[in-house]
Amino acid sequence: HCTCCTHGTAANLSVCFVSVMRLGNSAEALEAAKRTVHLSDCVLRLCITVAHLNRAMYFACDNVLWAGKTGLLPELDQNKWSQRSFRFYLFALILNLTRDAYETHLLMERESRSSAAKSFNCSLSPLTPSPENGGELPLTPSPSSALSAGLNKQFQLLITVLRNNPPLLLDLLKNLCDVFIPLDRLGLYPTGSGFVGACGLTSSVLSILTIVHPWLKLKP
Ligand SMILES: *[C@@H]1O[C@H](CO)[C@@H](O)[C@H](O)[C@H]1NC(C)=O
Repeated sequence: HCTCCTHGTAANLSVCFVSVMRLGNSAEALEAAKRTVHLSDCVLRLCITVAHLNRAMYFACDNVLWAGKTGLLPELDQNKWSQRSFRFYLFALILNLTRDAYETHLLMERESRSSAAKSFNCSLSPLTPSPENGGELPLTPSPSSALSAGLNKQFQLLITVLRNNPPLLLDLLKNLCDVFIPLDRLGLYPTGSGFVGACGLTSSVLSILTIVHPWLKLKP
């Protein structure tokens, strides 16, 4: 079907150039998946690798859609391919958000352990830890106030962790902005084009930020 590279006109050359560029996106996502398949943490490996594979599929569908729009594939059902590509995009974002949540959870656990260790070391010698105490104080006046104190503590922990990890915060915000785009397009959670546009703009600004300041990019 593809006749883009057989004609020598400038328009066809540019179409050809853009298709090669667009195919590069899929290839890049597959390469990224190959790199992350070796990660040692199995949750991270699964989330990131499958997210990259979904991203590759999203680019592939998007390329087919683009070929339909430029007239290279005139018979194409554009609506179907657009839905398909947004579905892969949504899956990739859900996996990215899962990864962000998982990393946040790990860091919150580490933070709470280290702050517990700090208060423990103040009261007791570190050489004689008592496991039955567990570092918890038996301060439970009523169940509901204990619950709200617990939630408050978790919230404080979350704020601390995100403040200490700008790359994680940025990735989380970007993915949260991005997720409204496919949700709206697929009709799962319509929010209106104004809101979707604002989300897209915010997400672009955040990704420009990670390009200008590469240390803000979440690794791997
Ligand atoms: C998801 O995370 C990966 C790895 O951090 C990133 O390359 C990608 O742009 C993110 N977004 C989507 C939609 O996959």
